[in-house]
Amino acid sequence: MNTIQVNLEERSYPIHVESGLLNHVPSILSDNNEGQKWIVISQYRLMELFGFDLVNNLKASGFDCEFITLPIGEAAKSLNEFSRVISQMVEFSCDRKTNILALGGGVVGDVAGFLSSTFMRGIDYYQIPTTLLAMVDSSIGGKTGINIAEGKNLVGSIYQPQGVIVDPDILQTLPQEEVFSGLGEVIKYGAIWNKAFLIDISTWLENIDSFPFEDAIRKSCKIKAEVVSKDEREGDLRRILNFGHTIGHALESHLGYGKIRHGEAVALGMKCAGFISQKLNLLSKEELSTLSQTINQLPLPQLSHINGNHLMPFIKTDKKSEKGVLNFVLLDGLGNALSSTDVTEELIQESLKALN
Ligand SMILES: NC(=O)c1ccc[n+]([C@@H]2O[C@H](COP(=O)([O-])OP(=O)(O)OC[C@H]3O[C@@H](n4cnc5c(N)ncnc54)[C@H](O)[C@@H]3O)[C@@H](O)[C@H]2O)c1
Ligand SMILES: [Zn+2]
Repeated sequence: MNTIQVNLEERSYPIHVESGLLNHVPSILSDNNEGQKWIVISQYRLMELFGFDLVNNLKASGFDCEFITLPIGEAAKSLNEFSRVISQMVEFSCDRKTNILALGGGVVGDVAGFLSSTFMRGIDYYQIPTTLLAMVDSSIGGKTGINIAEGKNLVGSIYQPQGVIVDPDILQTLPQEEVFSGLGEVIKYGAIWNKAFLIDISTWLENIDSFPFEDAIRKSCKIKAEVVSKDEREGDLRRILNFGHTIGHALESHLGYGKIRHGEAVALGMKCAGFISQKLNLLSKEELSTLSQTINQLPLPQLSHINGNHLMPFIKTDKKSEKGVLNFVLLDGLGNALSSTDVTEELIQESLKALN
């Protein structure tokens, strides 16, 4: 089995990435099955696609397994859903030994992770990501959370899973727009960490039907695992994972959640951040062109109506802005990122025009 390790001392865990792995979940988990309750947290559609098979396989292998479903979309990341699932878990007689399996995209993973970090002061959980974004990003690193009326992800924890099980075959049922959104994050890893990977992605995108997802997922997970292993709680290094996210998050909040996908917003944000990096002479014109051409291969929404003056307040309130100073991630050459506090509002406004 192909395994990447997240090294965090006693909180270390493996990320298994291999086609067909979903069928092997019982054997992967069997050493940890001591008769406790296992709860699959998912969404009903995903249960129909592969969750019921997973539960049946687990039961056939001697696991005491139940499932709980969440609604679709950000509505699942709410205090109401959180308390509803907790009540269901109590009804299922869950206790401190109970293990959770988060089967879904970033929404399911974030809620299930947060539930795991709080139920009986913390129980073990595993991530089984089903979207490309979750496979390469949200299932790794332990960031969990839910939304409140005042903002997204405002309640949460850093709580690492016991393991991540990635089966790239699961992507076959994922709508293509979601796949492209996840590719935004995959491009990010090449841009911030590995130029050769970025160039490979660019070539692979010329024919999406033959895109080597397994290889790309493995390389992306390796980069995220390396960054998180060195910096679990978002100091300077982990911050580079926010490349494209300052403007990306602002676009998501300004347009309204559900109007633009996260990876799409990040892809547009990376174009702006690349533009700014070039203006500050950190990136050559050729390098910027390589980055932009790679991103332009994704079918991204047209945002000609975006007014920089309307977006700016969202950029300033992005949580990456500490004590009024905006930390902006830039590229210092392709494959190398840094966090800068020198990016002016004028430069950001200018970069937004590059989106048109
Ligand atoms: N914790 C982190 O580090 C982190 C990082 C990035 C994003 N996030 C969070 O992740 C969330 C977004 O996650 P997402 O992009 O995975 O979206 P999502 O979880 O909403 O999934 C997108 C849609 O695809 C469906 N789906 C999932 N897998 C499928 C499959 N294999 N086949 C068919 N349909 C499938 C889902 O039911 C859903 O309708 C946001 O809430 C964001 O805040 C968290
Ligand atoms: Zn992201």
